[in-house]
Amino acid sequence: MFFNPKHILGIKNLTVEEINFILDTAESFKEVNTRQIKKVPTLRGKTIVNLFFEASTRTRTSFEIAGKRLSADMVNISASSSSVVKGETLEDTAHNIEAMHPDIIVMRHSASGACDYLAERLKCSVINAGDGTHEHPSQALLDALTIRQHKGEIKGLTVAIAGDVTHSRVVRSNIYCLNKLGAKVKIAGPRTMLPPGLEKLGCEVHHNLKAAITDADCIMMLRIQRERQGKTLIPSLREYSRFFGLNDSNLQLAKEDAIVMHPGPINRGVEISSSVADGKQNVILEQVENGVAVRMALLYLVSGGEKLQDN
Ligand code: NCD
Repeated sequence: MFFNPKHILGIKNLTVEEINFILDTAESFKEVNTRQIKKVPTLRGKTIVNLFFEASTRTRTSFEIAGKRLSADMVNISASSSSVVKGETLEDTAHNIEAMHPDIIVMRHSASGACDYLAERLKCSVINAGDGTHEHPSQALLDALTIRQHKGEIKGLTVAIAGDVTHSRVVRSNIYCLNKLGAKVKIAGPRTMLPPGLEKLGCEVHHNLKAAITDADCIMMLRIQRERQGKTLIPSLREYSRFFGLNDSNLQLAKEDAIVMHPGPINRGVEISSSVADGKQNVILEQVENGVAVRMALLYLVSGGEKLQDN
């Protein structure tokens, strides 16, 4: 298969074949990350700009390490140190960066649709590193890679995702991705954190964590996105944790070999207890590890994939 997308803006418009191809490509890059000298010349001469308008630890670092391991020149721009604080618009900022001829802009922004907006206006490639409450494609892909590694095949699995669904871009990309790959997706959260019409995306919706995680093969816990909530949506964190927190006791309802996932950052004692976050079923740091390989694959494919080798 040949797959050379101009942009990666979301999972919604990817086919099953394209998703599997990205995962297979990521698999082949995993080995580079364990070598003593973790560098291949694949993207030598390419310039990649990490343009982050929102806080990030994992995603920004992961794209940066991915680009550097492929020998690209990486430049990091964060909102607080950019001219956005001086009143420049997103489009002007992007055109000014593009005037310096980067090959790829990796962007995170608080507005849903910001990456699509730029992709329509710029000549270089755009990769979405999380836009508002819309999509976070590289996260869903690294989640799929992690599930695949533990369970072999995603088809036929039951995946429960719980937490602040309304404000989560991770959940939206994961629903698209897991549905396409043939998993059954069960969503749980308090009514105030579940958007209306969620079922239409192809998932079961529960207002009770226990119902969602019973017999699940994978459980994905989400952080409460307080920075995106206009008003308080829960009576107290203690109460939230009592009804929607994953702990040693309710985890027993899932399959015995269920894996526990979290995109990070985790809020210990809120959506997940420390003993589960550090417990033997957790694969949270494997997700982080797979993130580098998935982002290497995305940077490689957007740059031309196998075609690069002919140059
Ligand atoms: C997520 C995000 O930013 O959407 N984090 C991440 O990229 N790993 C989830 C979150 O912030 O809760």
